[in-house]
Amino acid sequence: MSLKIHQPDQLQIRWLIRRDMEEVLAIEQASFEFQWTEEDFLCCLRQRNCIGMVAEQDGKIVGFMIYELHKSRLHILNFAVSPNYRRQQIGQRMIQRLIDKLSQQRRREIVTEVRESNLSAQLFFKSLGFLAITIVRGRYEDTEEAAYIMSYLLIEESAEETTFKPTNRISSYDLYDRDAA
Ligand SMILES: CC(C)(COP(=O)(O)OP(=O)(O)OC[C@H]1O[C@@H](n2cnc3c(N)ncnc32)[C@H](O)[C@@H]1OP(=O)(O)O)[C@@H](O)C(=O)NCCC(=O)NCCS
Repeated sequence: MSLKIHQPDQLQIRWLIRRDMEEVLAIEQASFEFQWTEEDFLCCLRQRNCIGMVAEQDGKIVGFMIYELHKSRLHILNFAVSPNYRRQQIGQRMIQRLIDKLSQQRRREIVTEVRESNLSAQLFFKSLGFLAITIVRGRYEDTEEAAYIMSYLLIEESAEETTFKPTNRISSYDLYDRDAA
């Protein structure tokens, strides 16, 4: 699926580097009630399969994403756009960057967890072709609320008409143990 994208001027999407951390932490703090600390970010980014990405506009970090590479999928662990820059397609462009990394031969899926109460993120992912495929209860230490697992699956573009089978993804899904990094 190719998303229709309005491209904000001067938006650059690149790897996160150490000196971006201060601005990334400010976005984290402005975006979430339960926040990652700097140590959480650094600890995660030290893992070999963990990647940090930022969106930079006019020299300012306006969004970040932390994701993991697994054998058959990409797993978004943390992702936010600075409040003053939301609804400008920045998040969409960052997701499109991940979609561009998918391939039929290897990683065909992007997954993420969204809190039950985070309706705007659910609507955001839904607008980009993600489906909520399962609910995980007891996922968070800080609250009783559940996590919705949302998934984007790369579908092979084919001249033949594909039969829509809505149960396929749900029945075959086993997020955490399905493949090791
Ligand atoms: C979710 C988030 C990353 C979206 O980033 P964004 O740059 O504002 O999103 P975009 O501008 O690319 O939105 C693309 C589309 O998603 C949908 N969307 C985005 N935010 C939405 C909202 N608050 N309500 C309804 N739909 C929304 C819309 O369809 C939008 O297209 P439109 O603006 O043309 O209507 C941002 O709201 C955010 O940082 N939220 C707080 C942190 C968070 O919840 N992160 C996700 C954790 S899983």
